[in-house]
Amino acid sequence: MSKDYENVLEDLALVYRLKEQAEAHKKESDALLAGTRALLTAKNEKELYTKMFGIFRSLYSYDVSFVLENDSKGKMRCTNTTHPKLLDTMWDVDETLSRAIKSSPVALFNVKLQPTWREHLHLFDAPITSALLCPFRVHHQQAVMVFCHQTLGFYTQEYVDMANRYRTFTQQMSMSVQAKLMALETIKLKEEKAQVEKSLISSEKMASLGLLAAGVAHEINNPIAFVNSNMMFIKDVLPSLTSMQDIVQELARATTDEERAAVAEKAKQWTSNNKIGPIVDEIADICEESGEGLNRVTEIITSLRSFSHSSDVSIDDTVNINDCITNGLRLVNSELKHKVTINTDLADIPLIKGKTGKLNQVLVNLFVNAAQAMDNGGTLTVTTQCNYLDDNEVVIVTVQDTGSGIEKDDLEKLFDPFYTTKPTGKGTGLGLYISFSIIESMGGKIKVDSEVNVGTTFTLQLPVASSDSETDDSETGDSETGDSETGDSESDNGNADSANANKAP
Ligand SMILES: Nc1ncnc2c1ncn2[C@@H]1O[C@H](COP(=O)(O)OP(=O)(O)OP(=O)(O)O)[C@@H](O)[C@H]1O
Ligand SMILES: [Mg+2]
Repeated sequence: MSKDYENVLEDLALVYRLKEQAEAHKKESDALLAGTRALLTAKNEKELYTKMFGIFRSLYSYDVSFVLENDSKGKMRCTNTTHPKLLDTMWDVDETLSRAIKSSPVALFNVKLQPTWREHLHLFDAPITSALLCPFRVHHQQAVMVFCHQTLGFYTQEYVDMANRYRTFTQQMSMSVQAKLMALETIKLKEEKAQVEKSLISSEKMASLGLLAAGVAHEINNPIAFVNSNMMFIKDVLPSLTSMQDIVQELARATTDEERAAVAEKAKQWTSNNKIGPIVDEIADICEESGEGLNRVTEIITSLRSFSHSSDVSIDDTVNINDCITNGLRLVNSELKHKVTINTDLADIPLIKGKTGKLNQVLVNLFVNAAQAMDNGGTLTVTTQCNYLDDNEVVIVTVQDTGSGIEKDDLEKLFDPFYTTKPTGKGTGLGLYISFSIIESMGGKIKVDSEVNVGTTFTLQLPVASSDSETDDSETGDSETGDSETGDSESDNGNADSANANKAP
């Protein structure tokens, strides 16, 4: 054999080796690419593993694959698999498994020889004989990915080498898996938090409704009671009106002078017994009074409906905060009216971004808090005004009371969940926590200023719906509850302690 020929053969062998390597690299890069794509698109852990199993099938040609993770009982648990019957099975950490965990991939020529495997073999539909165990890390713990094949000794040293060769890639994949799992976990936690908050909001609303129910029932009962007594009056005067109608009909039927004279006599008697003028006046008054009473009932029911308004109806609600204030005050009226003077100074303000139901909940809580802080009487002042803050148009709402006030140290805890100074049944301590999250979700701010034995002022700052949104002036000026000159609440409380609700609830 000439030297040249030998060189050519050597070169050819080299070319083949390089070609094989290039193909292996291509396979690896393809898997890496598919893996990355899978990681980017998976929305949960199950989907992530389904995609991973798909990628590894092209590399290890397995019949069944599964993941074993450390379990608290010193065993390993199957957490993900292509074969559902294996899910949650517990595996003893035998010698091979611990070797796979600690060092490098392990090939099992015949799994039937392993006691750990024998107890699980009945779960496989296909007769599994060989396996490849590849270590990786997940959830900050060692885990093993297992590939099983029906062919005896399928996973040769070549596969172990391949698994070793892909170790960096698998490691990278598992790191990405961990990162992805953490991201998914965070998303899940956020979703759970949102869910819990949502149910808290609705249970707090239910609690407030319970608290208001007696007062609202009383408010509704009053007009219903006088409408009822008015109805009784009409029922009482009805017979005399009917008898008058009989006289009129008799007169219409009368043809002779005698008949007409007899009817005239009856009419004379009727007028001496009944005063038609006052009866008609009374009925007119009654109708007007009953109409007003029923209007009041309608208003209270509208306020109740507005309060219990579902908060999820649409994303982009616009709200007239003056309406919310009027509705809220109407609901708490019976709680307030006997001991508290209510003043309102509601300016001509634009609509704000937000949800009616949720804003009503915030306001009702502020009003009820104020009422409960003024057990011995006082004044509740509610104002609205439009302002510019850093070039942004905002609506400022102040709810000021002349009640007990809040200690400086307690101001810090005010927006914490379950912070309450009220006895069971009177307060859950969720009102301000929920108010904070509602106002924050609307892009607004809530602030409190207070001085012990002087009073407390809550200030809401709410972004307006949009610069071109219409100005709703239907409910401006002083509301039905009274009027007063209320200045800037903060200036009223010059020395007051204050707390901005700027910590996450
Ligand atoms: N206007 C106020 N004047 C004095 N203290 C207040 C005032 N508003 C709130 N507080 C204090 O803050 C605490 C928390 O108020 P928050 O509205 O969160 O809960 P709550 O009123 O106790 O119960 P609920 O969940 O029924 O609203 C109250 O218990 C009270 O001590
Ligand atoms: Mg409260």
